[in-house]
Amino acid sequence: MSKKKIVVAYSGGLDTSVMVKWLSEKYDAEIITATGFLGQVKEIEGVKEKAAKTGAVKSYVFDLREEFLTQYAWKALKAGALYEGSYPMATAIGRPLLAKMLVEVAEQENADAVSHGCTGKGNDQVRFEVGVQTLSPDLEIIAPLRLWEFKSREEEMDYAIAHNIPIKATKDNPYSIDENLWGIAIECGVLEDPEAAPPEDAYQITTNPKKAPNISEEITIGFEKGIPVSLDGIEMGAVDLVTRLKEIGANNGVGRLDLIENRVVGIKSREVYEAPAAVILHHAHFELEKLILDKETFRFKQNISNKVANLIYDGLWYSPLFKSLMAFVDSTQENITGEIKLELYKGTIKTLSRSSVYSLYNKNLATYTSEDTFDHKASDGFIKIYGLPYKTITQVEKFAKQEVIV
Ligand code: ARG
Repeated sequence: MSKKKIVVAYSGGLDTSVMVKWLSEKYDAEIITATGFLGQVKEIEGVKEKAAKTGAVKSYVFDLREEFLTQYAWKALKAGALYEGSYPMATAIGRPLLAKMLVEVAEQENADAVSHGCTGKGNDQVRFEVGVQTLSPDLEIIAPLRLWEFKSREEEMDYAIAHNIPIKATKDNPYSIDENLWGIAIECGVLEDPEAAPPEDAYQITTNPKKAPNISEEITIGFEKGIPVSLDGIEMGAVDLVTRLKEIGANNGVGRLDLIENRVVGIKSREVYEAPAAVILHHAHFELEKLILDKETFRFKQNISNKVANLIYDGLWYSPLFKSLMAFVDSTQENITGEIKLELYKGTIKTLSRSSVYSLYNKNLATYTSEDTFDHKASDGFIKIYGLPYKTITQVEKFAKQEVIV
């Protein structure tokens, strides 16, 4: 009988490196690693060689940055999906894509199972596994971190050393970090104390706003149907645009978030994020929508944004409801074309200018000068009828009180 084949979602870090060896021993299996490059700076170098040294029979590395941004981040952006009001979900939107990658490699390799390095108390196990189950219902999923005997990082290190698994001998990083082009999530260490402010070393890419340049930086972002397409008038592809915005934002201390959030499994967790490009783009996109969407669509879409954010966070990217709500979102983006000029300064974002051929802002209606064309007299009848139900309630209640006293 041929050996069991397992495809591992491999980052090159300690957990997934130990996993490769542990799985091959425990299941007497052939391990194939698959690494999705979503713009993470750390660990991606030499990942193939590392996988081979760790005992993988084959390893794949896919540059998924373009797909990640255009098929995942742009959807979250168009939807205005910010979890619990602010988290742009860099990690949460990356997982369904990595789940799809795992399924595709498993199919190509005719593998029996896929495996990931998520812990048993986080959101990512849910996102990976619900994604894989949905895309390939019969594929087995193995989550070693929920199964194995290691109780600490030190124990994993000992195992790695004993099995000649190459690990970085750098001093222990107290944080658990997940990174891609859309943003970075940082947890653990002192961050587990919500009473303690994050130490400066928790932040990986952004300048401390207090130390950011004393001169502000102005940028203009162009959108077409809700998608960012240019920076300062120069058309750019997704990867270039986001990479550039990440640098500019980080340099000006923009995009830091320190949050308490509700995890899918019911735990509250404290996490620090740096998402300069995502925060800038959400700000600009929302500004453009304020200019272009009619009042009812704008108000209704805010509820949808919240629902879409919850679906993404909860691992339901490949669900029918997500697809249906995105159809609504796409229809709202038909006219979201125009330019937003922003000023970045010491961690803040200010809107300097908005313009669009689809702008519903009508100066003649808005002005208080003699150019005014708004029909003021029409407000008289409008308000009488508009307020009628409330006037009626007060009248009725007054009358009813008198009746009760008598
Ligand atoms: N809490 C975030 C989420 O659920 C990020 C988790 C990322 N993982 C990490 N190791 N920091 O989307």
